[in-house]
Amino acid sequence: MILRVLRANSAQQIRPHYQTFEVPMEPGMTVLGALLRAKERVDHSLAIRFSCRMASCGSCGMKINGLPRLACYTQVKEFRSAPITVEPLDHYPLIRDLVTDFEAFFEKHRGIEPYLVRQNLDEQETSESEYVQGPNELDDYLQFSYCIKCGLCNAACPTVSTDPDFTGPQALGQAYRYVADSRDEGAHKRLQAIDHEHGIWRCHFAGACSFVCPKGVDPALAIQRLRRSVVSAPSRKGVPLLHLR
Ligand code: SF4
Ligand code: FES
Repeated sequence: MILRVLRANSAQQIRPHYQTFEVPMEPGMTVLGALLRAKERVDHSLAIRFSCRMASCGSCGMKINGLPRLACYTQVKEFRSAPITVEPLDHYPLIRDLVTDFEAFFEKHRGIEPYLVRQNLDEQETSESEYVQGPNELDDYLQFSYCIKCGLCNAACPTVSTDPDFTGPQALGQAYRYVADSRDEGAHKRLQAIDHEHGIWRCHFAGACSFVCPKGVDPALAIQRLRRSVVSAPSRKGVPLLHLR
């Protein structure tokens, strides 16, 4: 099989160019497996990020034949014609070859307070008992909790490509995951943090985020539900929401 890989290394002034690798096809081979075979047998300098090799850690995202995908979760036999083109994810600064910088991505994720917030901070830090939650309450947020932070949704999003300040589908999806959790008491502040022109209102509802998500998360739906939560929040009726950025 033939891989066509976009390579670049700004630290060594190597400009973007495609390199072709020919590797023997094996049963069950994934694109990550093929890349690792190329790295082992042909060129050790090929930079790839990966860890779990089972679609759990979210670190092997890249563009495969034009679509953001997890390399460890993509079988080479899916592609009938050679070569398979592999490129770094769009909308992330490039570090080298297929490795991109997720610093800003995780900064936005941190910005929506992605954890259970309780009004009583002592209880939040030293809780001694379980919070009761029924199956229906679990259903309200369960699919959104499957996010592995692979960033494919942000790479696919046309709004991220035109507005680098956009909070992005991943962080917004996680904001909804906690807003919808019956154990959480931090919705008011979280909704304030996303109610601005680069937050929920920037989304054009292209749906590309939900289309590419490998874990079945639907960030586009989360954003629509967050909009509903914001316009129906009690503070909207009297005191305007603060616009925290
Ligand atoms: S929502 Fe899906 S595509 Fe986006 S970071 Fe989470 S798992 Fe990846
Ligand atoms: S290596 Fe962990 S998701 Fe692919």
